[in-house]
Amino acid sequence: MLDDLLENNRHWSEERKRANPHYFEHLSRLQKPQYLWIGCSDSRVPANTITGLEPGEVFVHRNVANMVHPSDLNLLSVLEYAVEVLEVSHVIVCGHYGCGGIHASQEDHRHGIVDHWLQPIRDVAERNKDQLAHTTDQPSKLDLLCELNVRAQVERLAGTPILQTAWKRGRRVRVHGWVYGLRDGLISDLHCSVPDLRSFAERK
Ligand code: CO
Repeated sequence: MLDDLLENNRHWSEERKRANPHYFEHLSRLQKPQYLWIGCSDSRVPANTITGLEPGEVFVHRNVANMVHPSDLNLLSVLEYAVEVLEVSHVIVCGHYGCGGIHASQEDHRHGIVDHWLQPIRDVAERNKDQLAHTTDQPSKLDLLCELNVRAQVERLAGTPILQTAWKRGRRVRVHGWVYGLRDGLISDLHCSVPDLRSFAERK
């Protein structure tokens, strides 16, 4: 099966070169994406595929349940590089309905170390328990929690010293919250974008 992947890769490379003999030469010289994507590791939510973006067009960080932990050096390194060096214009947090991480965060039994990773989702659920209590059936309750979690991660991102400093320096970079539907393949904008420092301060 692994041989299939390598075979697929050879075909893909040849097709690209057939379409444009300089394709890899151009790509290897410069990386200048406009977007940083922070999404879930779920194999059904591949950033490039669902947004129709080509290699070189989106910088990607994925983890379980698209979390922004303020001390996650991996994410912070990606964010700093994207904002400071690549100078992306948009940072997108994209969650998805039917997220296993969101589901696991609401189960009573222990899963392991991932329970620590998912702790902030339980905090989001606690902070929004009244709104969640109004939603009676389980799938839509978890779907609502997916959305609330994306909103919370957008706030966290906007509050990082990396973005705060970039905005203070006058950098134009916007943070957005989206959610993807596994059932229809469609992305919805949650309309919680943070375009600048003033907008972030006004939310508080
Ligand atoms: Co997920």
